[in-house]
Amino acid sequence: MVNVKKRDNEEPSPLIPENNTIVIFGASGDLTHRKLIPAFYHLYVNDLLPQDFAILGASRTEFTDQAFRDKMKQALLANSETDEARLSGFCDHLYYQPLNTSDKTEYGVLKERLAEVHEKHATDGNTVYYLSTPPSLYGVIPECLAAHGLNEEHDGWKNLIVEKPFGYDLESAVELDDKIHTCFKEHQIYRIDHYLGKETVQNLLVFRFSNALFEPLWNRNFIDHVEITSAEFLGVEERGGYYDTAGAMRDMFQNHLLQVLSMVAMEPPSTINADSMRDETVKVMQSFRPLSEDDLKKNLILGQYTASDVRGQHLPGYREEHGVAEDSRTETYVGLKMFIDNWRWNGVPFYVRTGKRLPTRVTEVVIHFKETPHPIFSANSPENKLIIRIQPDEGILMSFGLKKPGAGFETKQVSMDFHYDDLGEANMLTAYERLLLDCMKGDATLFTRSDAVQTCWKFVQPILDFKDNSEHLFGYASGTWGPKEADELLQNDGRDWRFPCKNLTDTDYCEL
Ligand code: BG6
Repeated sequence: MVNVKKRDNEEPSPLIPENNTIVIFGASGDLTHRKLIPAFYHLYVNDLLPQDFAILGASRTEFTDQAFRDKMKQALLANSETDEARLSGFCDHLYYQPLNTSDKTEYGVLKERLAEVHEKHATDGNTVYYLSTPPSLYGVIPECLAAHGLNEEHDGWKNLIVEKPFGYDLESAVELDDKIHTCFKEHQIYRIDHYLGKETVQNLLVFRFSNALFEPLWNRNFIDHVEITSAEFLGVEERGGYYDTAGAMRDMFQNHLLQVLSMVAMEPPSTINADSMRDETVKVMQSFRPLSEDDLKKNLILGQYTASDVRGQHLPGYREEHGVAEDSRTETYVGLKMFIDNWRWNGVPFYVRTGKRLPTRVTEVVIHFKETPHPIFSANSPENKLIIRIQPDEGILMSFGLKKPGAGFETKQVSMDFHYDDLGEANMLTAYERLLLDCMKGDATLFTRSDAVQTCWKFVQPILDFKDNSEHLFGYASGTWGPKEADELLQNDGRDWRFPCKNLTDTDYCEL
């Protein structure tokens, strides 16, 4: 635990955080009732929240405590079947303070309200500030908090969670970091990347570093290439306004995908704690081969979805989506072939793609091993492949060749698989639950450190500059696997993307 020095003398429980109050800025927004409150409620129901706690929503909308409780209650009821008494018990911990978040003078009122809530719930001044506001306020709120001493830790710890996107490019990320660092110290800052909260992303570490079986093969001598796919069937939904300024590169690639990639490629940390883990991921990020002009032209494919009829449903094109400019050149698909210039990975291509309106929702990593040096049984050796499925149908599938029964020595591709469902574990934490809990416990292992954020921005900066040139955007029909140029990216190397379906299988039959 990073914050141990700030805690009581009493040894904190490794499972349950100390009493604390969570202040959610931007509490009237979507994220609060869709993700945050359900996450807190699930933690509460599973007895993972501290003995006493409070959640104080703050935003411009005028709600009373009661109106805020009712709104959250409705959201919880809409999402799950739940026990009325438990629900009411939880809602008694909710409060609301109307606040113009960008007005420093109003934070005096917030300070008083916070003191009341701390007192009532014995939370000892321990506070998590959650910035769930438009990114333009990420630099402003810490400043306002600091102006009223609400960042100081002499009366309890103060942790600040910052939602993504952390910056818009390298320059703005550095600027934002500098701004926040004038008010909060690095150990207080928790930059959230919800992919790191996913069980199956964390499992990448356990799978790699707790088994002696795979790690010896996990390098350029045995691995031919790696595919990382994060596909979504949904379009931009109601977020067209935001997405049109971001695109897939900023929305998914710069953060989630580069994080997953570095967990696939990192060296083993000497121990699992915030510093050694993040030291290793940053080292990989620093080894990403910088993208040259030539790479951008040959190894980067940007696409935008167009209207199409898919499985009896008409799907509008990206430019027809609410909040999107009619002549938008924003990419909803990115495919990139990239390299990691270090001892372990030199020369191994990583093909990484993400897109909206692809045939199905799936995130997976596929490790393709090299062929045997001398294929004696058939001209085409079977593929040795490991599929690490992050979502859905979470699990791992390994495929290899066996003898086809009968005369001769024909080979047949077969597979072995493990599905998380088989564990029968009903209480897996969602990404937000895990990350909120970790932040309350002062554990930053699964949060992004500032050097990682900046290194990733630095890597993608040439793409951001390049994509401003409108020539480089291909259309693809909604419900397809992106522009055909993305297929050619692999075909030119004599390879193909895997076309995954919603179930973790490796057959020709694909259920979308
Ligand atoms: C978010 C992006 O960070 O991740 C969204 O802003 C995207 O555009 C979402 O849909 C995907 O997350 P998940 O957990 O559904 O894969």
